[in-house]
Amino acid sequence: MAFQTLRISNLRNITQLEIAPAEGINLIYGKNGSGKTSLLESIFMLGRGRSFRSSRAAPLICTGKKSLEIYGEYCANDTLNKIGIRKTLSDTEIHLNGENIHRLSQLAVTVPLQILTPQSYQLLDRGPEYRRKFIEWGVFHVEHQYSELLKRFLRAMNQRNAALKSNQKIARAWDKEVADCGELINSKRERYFGQLNTLLENELKCFMPDLEFDIVWRRGWKAGLTLSDSLIQNFERDCERKFTGSGPQRADIEIRINKIPVSQYASRGQQKLLVAALCIAQLKLSRQITDRKSVLLVDDLAAELDSHNREMLFSRFKESGSQVFLTATDPQLLSGMVDSMFHVEHGSLA
Ligand SMILES: Nc1ncnc2c1ncn2[C@@H]1O[C@H](COP(=O)(O)OP(=O)(O)OP(=O)(O)O)[C@@H](O)[C@H]1O
Ligand SMILES: [Mg+2]
Repeated sequence: MAFQTLRISNLRNITQLEIAPAEGINLIYGKNGSGKTSLLESIFMLGRGRSFRSSRAAPLICTGKKSLEIYGEYCANDTLNKIGIRKTLSDTEIHLNGENIHRLSQLAVTVPLQILTPQSYQLLDRGPEYRRKFIEWGVFHVEHQYSELLKRFLRAMNQRNAALKSNQKIARAWDKEVADCGELINSKRERYFGQLNTLLENELKCFMPDLEFDIVWRRGWKAGLTLSDSLIQNFERDCERKFTGSGPQRADIEIRINKIPVSQYASRGQQKLLVAALCIAQLKLSRQITDRKSVLLVDDLAAELDSHNREMLFSRFKESGSQVFLTATDPQLLSGMVDSMFHVEHGSLA
């Protein structure tokens, strides 16, 4: 399971580039501004249908060109999937095996893909929605029907929220659907989180053996209550605030070190290692449950990590069995340890 061919035209400074990556670890190296992150960006777009750097087309399309094109051949379970993306300023076309696709989840099912960038540590101190999204990636890859369940829940909750502003009787009528879907969502998330946490403990022991982590799933409503009871108990408060205050939409992962929230305790490098450990645990779990390997993109691996941690991280990436694309300015950092190296200069292979 890996990309075998990648072809990029007119994405940022890459006018034409084609590579045949290795199934294991691929190092993309070159000077600042040479196009390394842009290459990762194109792979990300093949797996997610969008960029991780820009939601607008204009910055992505090479200056002076009308469109960008990305093509990738991704092999999974002996099937060669051909993915093509064409983006103009006003339109995006995505093809999967010759068919036009409209739902990005079709791409996500085909290519399980994760990314670590120098900003990924923000997962720890940004809002809970980022940590929920992280868990949802995993649950979705284990159970593809999960996204339908989530949609059903959000529809019911939005209807309830709208009714809280105008008609309390109608709001109450949505309680059952909100509670049924919410409980089901939580049980899937909780089961997944339990499995993830076991793998995570192992990773953390390797990365930071001296720190004691306390990692807990908060489901989004009071312990000891069913969601249905919680909705009834908090109905007046929900009416005052005009939104549903309990349910899986409030869930979060709580991470503490020595009883102190991780973002206030851990150094920047430790935060990066923790997020990398979460990511590796997730890739391993996905492989354990689905027997499928994922693609991992790692932008600027070296940033803020000492050589011991860099090498440790690198060996854990390797062990995850994923197809990995790493970027670095200095190829010496990992030379002899990678399966393929690509030197990028001014948006082309050197
Ligand atoms: N729309 C565009 N058209 C042409 N060139 C662009 C466009 N957008 C960005 N660039 C240029 O493309 C280059 C690619 O940037 P990229 O972020 O991929 O570099 P990088 O190799 O990752 O650098 P760094 O080591 O600094 O992270 C930069 O030089 C940037 O100025
Ligand atoms: Mg870069």
